[in-house]
Amino acid sequence: MFKIRKAKDSDIPEVMKINLETLPENYWYGFYKNLLDNWGEAFLVAEKEGVLVGYAMSRIEEQSDPVLLGLAKDEVSVWRRVISTIKGDLRKVGHLVSIAVRAPYRRIGIGTALLRETISVVDKFYNAESLYLEVRVTNYPAISLYEKFGFRKARIVKGYYSDGEDAYVMVLRLKPTQA
Ligand code: ACO
Ligand code: ZN
Repeated sequence: MFKIRKAKDSDIPEVMKINLETLPENYWYGFYKNLLDNWGEAFLVAEKEGVLVGYAMSRIEEQSDPVLLGLAKDEVSVWRRVISTIKGDLRKVGHLVSIAVRAPYRRIGIGTALLRETISVVDKFYNAESLYLEVRVTNYPAISLYEKFGFRKARIVKGYYSDGEDAYVMVLRLKPTQA
């Protein structure tokens, strides 16, 4: 079995190792430390027999974009975005920055457990209205995991990644929608 727990400072080097092993999007130490210091409830690790095998880290942002709030699809968003920006209507939104599980430990539910806990913390602890993320358009395992939790492909960002690949912005609305 494995357990999901909050990360601590001393986990950062191992989290960085997992990130380097699993993803081409890598970050410097201070980036992880900043996430942990500011949104530590949403910085999670998976541990199996004392070994770190996965992580999920998120931050909370103030956004007015209805697409990121899970209130609109991209096509209708341009004007609503402009209007929301002018109104200065900022709402709390979770951003899943990165999630990964070490290859030998995949397909046994660890990604699911990390994402389930992330959603719960972002919704109940931080009280955000939505959770969003970017994912490579060819990353079927991750997209399929997100869709199982109800995330929708809300936007495509052309050339988002440094190698030129496009990203889907996927969004999960956490709160009831009201006018
Ligand atoms: N092929 C198809 N579907 C898959 C695959 C796969 N290889 N792997 C996971 N899934 C989907 C399935 O629907 C699966 O459910 P199932 O096993 O019942 O069929 C579901 O995801 C949940 O699987 P878990 O076992 O809970 O997930 P896992 O622990 O394997 O972690 C993860 C999934 C995190 C995407 C893992 O594959 C990984 O670390 N990949 C490399 C890093 C990565 O791509 N991270 C996401 C980048 S985007 C971002 O970070 C915001
Ligand atoms: Zn992102």
